[in-house]
Amino acid sequence: MIVSKQAFTIRRITLEEATPVRLDVLRRGTPSRLATYDGDSEPTTVHIGAELSGSVVATSTWLMRPWPDDAQSPAVQLRGMAVLDSMQNTGVGKALIDAGIAHARERGARYVWAKARDSALYFYERRGFAVEGEQFIEPASGVSHHLVVLDLRVERKEGIAVER
Ligand SMILES: CC(C)(COP(=O)(O)OP(=O)(O)OC[C@H]1O[C@@H](n2cnc3c(N)ncnc32)[C@H](O)[C@@H]1OP(=O)(O)O)[C@@H](O)C(=O)NCCC(=O)NCCS
Repeated sequence: MIVSKQAFTIRRITLEEATPVRLDVLRRGTPSRLATYDGDSEPTTVHIGAELSGSVVATSTWLMRPWPDDAQSPAVQLRGMAVLDSMQNTGVGKALIDAGIAHARERGARYVWAKARDSALYFYERRGFAVEGEQFIEPASGVSHHLVVLDLRVERKEGIAVER
């Protein structure tokens, strides 16, 4: 999978390429220097990143994990979504979400979900995700989060949800 968009390229990346971006964006200002997740190296896990001028500038990780409210349906969890400061608000995050959703559809997933930082909720809502449940604090970062979920069977047209 290679998608060129504007000046950056969206492609599969390795965990070794993802880790420095995770540390820079998601662990800066926190006591934690741990930026690995359970399942990072599972055969069904993919890391999708953006490359600019030979450097990885954004990362996202997509794991086969059930959505807690519907454990029977196949689902993909997004973790470690991070865009370097210099590339934020240039459409990179949107391009990663689009690529991850395409990956989830290929895997036959019904849901894509994530533990989203409250500071990024608008970004997910713009991509059609619904915010679910109560606020919680993630221990690794110490910041507040909500669950967000996208039901791939529901297509959104002009803000109205339509069953596929
Ligand atoms: C949140 C993040 C992944 C978004 O990626 P991005 O490349 O900056 O976003 P895009 O340029 O694709 O923006 C897409 C939309 O989301 C909005 N957006 C971007 N960052 C946002 C943020 N932090 N909060 C709210 N909205 C945001 C943009 O304004 C844009 O809105 P539009 O569609 O109305 O124009 C990125 O800014 C980031 O890594 N932030 C720091 C770490 C973080 O919060 N990661 C997410 C953990 S759950």
